[in-house]
Amino acid sequence: MKKRVLFVCLGNICRSPSAEAVFKHIVEDKHLKDNFEIDSAGTSGYHAGEPADARMQQHASMRGIRLTSISRQFNAPYDFDHFDIIVAMDEDNLDKLKQLARHKKDLAKLCLMTDFASSNQYTEVLDPYYGGAQGFETVLDILEDAGQGLLKHLITTPA
Ligand code: 4NP
Repeated sequence: MKKRVLFVCLGNICRSPSAEAVFKHIVEDKHLKDNFEIDSAGTSGYHAGEPADARMQQHASMRGIRLTSISRQFNAPYDFDHFDIIVAMDEDNLDKLKQLARHKKDLAKLCLMTDFASSNQYTEVLDPYYGGAQGFETVLDILEDAGQGLLKHLITTPA
């Protein structure tokens, strides 16, 4: 059975499409592509239908990562039923998802990306939208590190 993983941020144009692409890259690198379904969404629909932010695309491409996903809004309750794990980028968006959860089973699917990081240097993947270049680099640093931890978690956790 495929594990279904959904990454969620606010706009689905910076952090979560990057998380989706970085995690796909990690999984493909380990020849585990067929074991996963990987997607991303935003708690807002502000940018629905748009490709990833051009700055985010540029920073990702410098690491050999292509961002191809198109922004969509998180779709409750469908996404709670469809995905096995829903990974929020920050506390704010985790709170929004908690408010959409219907019951304990939905809540149990929610976590933060930084839960899987190798250190406690970062507790959230912060929004890079209004900042400079370093913000986009930090997003990718955290996603590359925590993505490895997430894969280990998913491989070692029973279905
Ligand atoms: P994201 O970044 O949540 O990582 O996609 C943002 C994109 C757009 C906005 C905020 C954050 N915005 O306010 O339009």
